[in-house]
Amino acid sequence: MDMRLPLKFTEAVPVQDRHQRALRELRVSVIDRCNFRCTYCMPADSLQGRGVFLPLEKLLTDHEIVDMVKAFAGLGVRKLRITGGEPLLRPGLPALVDQLASIPGLTDIALTTNGVMLPRLADDLFDAGLNRLTVSLDTLDPQVLAEMSGGKAKLAHILDGIKAAEAAGFGPLKINTVVQKGVNDHTIMDLVEYFRGTPHRLRLIEYMDVGNSNHWSEQDVVPNAEWRAAIEEKWPLRPVRSGNPAETARRFEYVDGQGEIGFISSITQPFCGGCTRARVTADGIFYTCLFSSRGNNLMPLIRHSEDPAALSREISAIWAARDDRYSEERGLPGHDRKKVEMYRLGG
Ligand code: GTP
Ligand code: 5AD
Ligand code: SF4
Ligand code: SF4
Repeated sequence: MDMRLPLKFTEAVPVQDRHQRALRELRVSVIDRCNFRCTYCMPADSLQGRGVFLPLEKLLTDHEIVDMVKAFAGLGVRKLRITGGEPLLRPGLPALVDQLASIPGLTDIALTTNGVMLPRLADDLFDAGLNRLTVSLDTLDPQVLAEMSGGKAKLAHILDGIKAAEAAGFGPLKINTVVQKGVNDHTIMDLVEYFRGTPHRLRLIEYMDVGNSNHWSEQDVVPNAEWRAAIEEKWPLRPVRSGNPAETARRFEYVDGQGEIGFISSITQPFCGGCTRARVTADGIFYTCLFSSRGNNLMPLIRHSEDPAALSREISAIWAARDDRYSEERGLPGHDRKKVEMYRLGG
């Protein structure tokens, strides 16, 4: 007998955490490997001599991911974001997207990528039903880019990836830029200028203390308010009301009509109050916060349970007990604990 969850979407059973936050967005990492070694995410020296990456047989299969996402959709999840590592490294990703796109209840499927494999995959992903793409790009300076990506990124390849996404038919992209003081901050205005006047939305992201291996320090953070002021001096901005309280970015548009820019300020202006995001790693561990120390392993229920409703019950129970507000509590005693690494959660 096929024990997978039925395809038919009946009704969403809303579930709320201890701060009355619903479960609305799911971010699924489909692989923890990456072809870059960004110093703020998986610095090469932190990976040496250990079996850090999951063997492929430990990953949830496509069927298992689909079943799991169905369970989340049944509990109110509407938006799905596919992450990694670098998600395009997962073999057969377009076929997985194709199955995910037909899950009842989901209204939006997005993916975050470093862009270099888009020339090969953008068409197939678009045809499979992927709705939105986010490309990470930290600088236009080739040397700084090489430094930040552990010697792996080439600017031309990422720009080719952006072009491939446009040609495939994707609408405006989000471009993610992590700003590190003394590393790429002297190159930010060039990026701002490059994407001004395009349909794409650049987002400046305050460098965060995710994981442990990046040796984050507050000294490395440039408060986004400084960027906003610097940009406004050249090009006046006005806020865009998004109507989505869960949004990570504060959005602004250029007053002269040259597009939008966003600021993701988890350090100086945390946004836990509206956080409706759940995360699952490529091997099925469910985390209720980007900065969690521990997750809940859903794999046994996904892979072995004979009762499809058991997975939904488990997810509901975990979400109902959720108390996370890490970014708002950052700096309080006990918050220097060990955290899950970014490349396992995909951001
Ligand atoms: P959509 O609204 O689905 O388009 O997603 P997004 O723009 O929020 O997602 P994206 O993966 O592009 O995230 C942008 C940056 O915000 C990344 O650096 C993420 O790690 C960070 N981010 C995303 N979600 C959270 C969160 O819940 N908490 C914190 N502190 N940072 C987050
Ligand atoms: N701080 C802020 N953003 C980060 N990302 C990865 N590591 C960090 C960090 N330490 C971003 C990547 C990518 C997104 C998924 O998360 O640049 O765009
Ligand atoms: Fe790879 Fe993205 Fe991490 Fe960079 S930030 S190492 S591209 S997963
Ligand atoms: Fe959500 Fe945790 Fe990020 Fe706060 S720190 S917004 S609770 S993921």
